Amino acid sequence: METVLSGIRSTGNLHLGNYFGAIKNFIKMQHEHRCYFFIADYHSLTTHPTPEDLHQNVKQVLVEYLAAGIDPEVATLYIQSDVPEVAELYLLLNMNAYMGELERCTTFKDKARKQSDNINAGLLTYPVLMAADILIHRATKVPVGKDQEQHLEMARTFGKRFNRMYNNEYFPEPYAFNFGVDLIKIPGLDGSTKMGKSEGEGNAVFLADDPKTIQKKIMRAVTDSGPTEKNQPKPQAIENIFNIMQVVSTQDTLNYFEDKYNSCEIRYGDMKKQLAEDVIAFTAPLREKILEIGADDVYLSKVARMGAEKARESAAKTVKEVREIIGFKPF
Ligand code: TYM
Repeated sequence: METVLSGIRSTGNLHLGNYFGAIKNFIKMQHEHRCYFFIADYHSLTTHPTPEDLHQNVKQVLVEYLAAGIDPEVATLYIQSDVPEVAELYLLLNMNAYMGELERCTTFKDKARKQSDNINAGLLTYPVLMAADILIHRATKVPVGKDQEQHLEMARTFGKRFNRMYNNEYFPEPYAFNFGVDLIKIPGLDGSTKMGKSEGEGNAVFLADDPKTIQKKIMRAVTDSGPTEKNQPKPQAIENIFNIMQVVSTQDTLNYFEDKYNSCEIRYGDMKKQLAEDVIAFTAPLREKILEIGADDVYLSKVARMGAEKARESAAKTVKEVREIIGFKPF
């Protein structure tokens, strides 16, 4: 049995990218492995949310995890800030993380560009906190989308460095994981290569979107005037529509539009109409559960309490052992 861990930042509603990148395969694994799934709310502080937004976003992610099928009785589903041991491990790992490697991290450079008025130390040390999330349960498998690959590599670096420094094998190496399939990157509807929570209107389909909104977003997705030569390569925006279709539609549907594209007979209006229908069929049951679970505060509070208890047990054991390895001893 392996220890599996995955997390999502609480910065907004979950979208199709989050679902297919991090949740779908996790649901399959929860019955076979020791699984931890958490809401990264410490991480979300790098963007300075208001207390109200912070709380609302954590609740929304919790609700959507549950709606997607994570069973809190089986997996350990918890909120990061309910496990302060993570903050201690983060502090300890920070001592062996170097400025140069943190500054070179592509997500740091990206974020620093996007929020140039708020390049805080939390942004720089974000990969260290993420390593602490993973190493605190000594997880070996981390279901994530393609964008998190470099962070996983850094988590391995920090774990191995700790082992080397103290001459032991305490931390196992965590690997990004997607069931033997390549890591996934769901593109945006706006022609950009990634669906993201903060990419602006029209980029993402959220699991909680109502059918009308989904239809509107998809019908507005960026396309062009169509191929002019048979079998010509697809431009990015068109590739995006096909990629989204690949995860929500049947193989037959996908083949049908591939053929139409290759023979220059494709009508993007028809394709988007079909895609909207398939996305709606996929999200409708999720949306229904999101609304139902979101209204049950008693259940949510029970789930959060139970998750915190289970996660803290594992986290406290690691921190205790790490303290001993480092040399903290009671007098
Ligand atoms: P976050 O919140 O940006 O995204 C959560 C998960 O969803 C995946 N994902 C995608 N996968 C495919 N296509 C997309 N368009 C797409 N967009 C997002 C991400 O790869 C991720 O798996 N740093 C993490 C949160 C985190 C974490 C961790 C994850 C904190 N600590 C420990 C795993 C382990 C993040 O910002 O993900």
